[in-house]
Amino acid sequence: MRLRDQVALITGAASGMAAAQARLFASEGAAVCVADINEVGGRQVASEIIEGGGKAIFASLDVTDASQWAEVVSATEREFGSLTALCNNAGANFRVSFDDQTEEMWHTVMNIGLTGAFLGIKAAVPAMRRAGGGAIVNMGSLASTRSGGGSPAYGASKMGMVGLTQSAAKSYASDGIRCNMVSPGHVDTPFIRQNNAHSPNDWSTTIDNPDNYQRRLDATPLGRFQTPEDIAKAFLFLASDDASMITGVNLKVDGGAGM
Ligand SMILES: NC(=O)c1ccc[n+]([C@@H]2O[C@H](COP(=O)([O-])OP(=O)(O)OC[C@H]3O[C@@H](n4cnc5c(N)ncnc54)[C@H](O)[C@@H]3O)[C@@H](O)[C@H]2O)c1
Repeated sequence: MRLRDQVALITGAASGMAAAQARLFASEGAAVCVADINEVGGRQVASEIIEGGGKAIFASLDVTDASQWAEVVSATEREFGSLTALCNNAGANFRVSFDDQTEEMWHTVMNIGLTGAFLGIKAAVPAMRRAGGGAIVNMGSLASTRSGGGSPAYGASKMGMVGLTQSAAKSYASDGIRCNMVSPGHVDTPFIRQNNAHSPNDWSTTIDNPDNYQRRLDATPLGRFQTPEDIAKAFLFLASDDASMITGVNLKVDGGAGM
């Protein structure tokens, strides 16, 4: 019960890595606000947690909308009495070359992946101050240290996350609020498998294509894709008191892919 009495707001939690965080945090004693733009998937995750004996609510949230952030933070405090942890997971990508990346794609990736986290921190910090402190964990990527040639917006947003994380860490340390990030390598989630609006894939990019799966596997020295649970454990560590003297770090959980 490493998160006993904690209250966590987790974005993107209808699916993939953030859903795994929601389940793990709840099993460690936290009350969880499952926040996502995907209402059907988000309600399902919250229901599963409640059926398993945990505490959860679903909140509809588009992370690019500051007014929705204010409502979701209020709803979380109303329901559970406080807010002590924020996990910013929601992200987007368009896997096209620099030449083919449009201004619209750029704004979508930056707005969901980076501005969304900025707005989340702005909304959560006053609540964390009321609670006497808190922990923020942001979602990075291999692109946070090595952006590569494709999808310039993705590299810019994930490298921007390093700056945002350090800025929040330094700004709010004196309030007892820590801010860190986790950078996964290749994780088998809908983000790189399915053709979603926030992360379109076709045969040339999806890991359903054995060539793409093998290429990512070959790039991972520890020899397997990361699971959503691998990444959730790192979020749990950084959100818990075990990390009480850690702030401003980018923790890579990538099977060595970033070396
Ligand atoms: N899967 C990987 O290999 C990998 C590797 C490194 C980093 N990431 C990062 O992980 C995050 C995605 O997690 P995942 O891989 O579990 O993907 P996923 O596609 O399973 O989940 C993403 C979730 O974000 C939600 N979302 C999209 N736009 C939103 C918005 N505007 N407001 C609120 N929620 C929104 C989606 O509805 C979805 O539930 C992204 O930040 C991505 O950059 C993924």
